[in-house]
Amino acid sequence: MNIVQENETNYSASVVSIEETEDQQQRWLENRRKLENIHFSKFSEKQLRQGKTSRIDYILPYFIFGLKASFMYQQGLQNARSIVIREHELYFEDLPKAFDGYQIVHLTDLHLDSLPGIEDTICEYLDILRFDVAVFTGDYRWHAYGEYQDNVLNPLYRIFRMAQATDGVFVTLGNHDTHHIFRHLAEMPVQILNNQRVQIKRNRDIITLVGTDDPHNYLTNDAVHALQQAEGEFKIALVHSPELYQEAAQAGFQFYICGHTHAGQVCLPNGSPIIYNVSQGKHLANGLWNHNGMTGYTSPGCGVSGAPVRFFSRGEITRFTLRRKN
Ligand SMILES: [Fe+2]
Repeated sequence: MNIVQENETNYSASVVSIEETEDQQQRWLENRRKLENIHFSKFSEKQLRQGKTSRIDYILPYFIFGLKASFMYQQGLQNARSIVIREHELYFEDLPKAFDGYQIVHLTDLHLDSLPGIEDTICEYLDILRFDVAVFTGDYRWHAYGEYQDNVLNPLYRIFRMAQATDGVFVTLGNHDTHHIFRHLAEMPVQILNNQRVQIKRNRDIITLVGTDDPHNYLTNDAVHALQQAEGEFKIALVHSPELYQEAAQAGFQFYICGHTHAGQVCLPNGSPIIYNVSQGKHLANGLWNHNGMTGYTSPGCGVSGAPVRFFSRGEITRFTLRRKN
């Protein structure tokens, strides 16, 4: 792995949050609670406790049994634990000059209760990486039910501490993150972008980050409006899944960062996912893509859900270096 030297910072930098009123926050919380009630009402308490909320969850025990019987389970587990740092240098015609060389580190789909101890590897990597801002696009937990202080919140706090950067740490929610986690995140050293935006300034140049609530299970007009109403010459969308790619491209975003798909997690030998788990944008399930001039990146994420294995797929921490195209 490369150890990267930090760039000299001889500019004046600042981060400006576009404030949300308490009323708006309360409205979001109530709305999210309602949507979760509708979503979870399809399942019994026993199903929720056992984490059986999709058809795949019923097949999983047989899949895991098959892997163990064929001695492939340990290999899959080892694959899942072997996350990598992936680097991308991306060129944009309209990137403001002062942001040429700007580095964003992206983590998503940590699912910390799926792979106990994965936080050690993540923290080790974050410790040696240099970056200007860190962004997390949701799914901090896997099980949406039960106690999660020790196996999710404590390791998550360690990770957020390690991800501190000059311009801060910005986080959005995923479909596995119920509204309960909101108050815990609010106490951590991060800023939640819940259908909100923030401006990062370098001298007179500005880039805008817009983070939305999860569109996979909890899509609302507020998330779409947050994208549509965001102003700025260079805008980056932080969304849990690729499912808002059309709205973001239409709203003039230059860059869309997401995860959720795990890049299939268990793939065919050519790396093609068997399961996509998106209602829109299957062709955007893994890696770099482009839609109507907007660059997008769907990360395989750091963690796993369902079976704690990966085949023909690697978890990752991604670092983007933004470059101005002449
Ligand atoms: Fe997800």
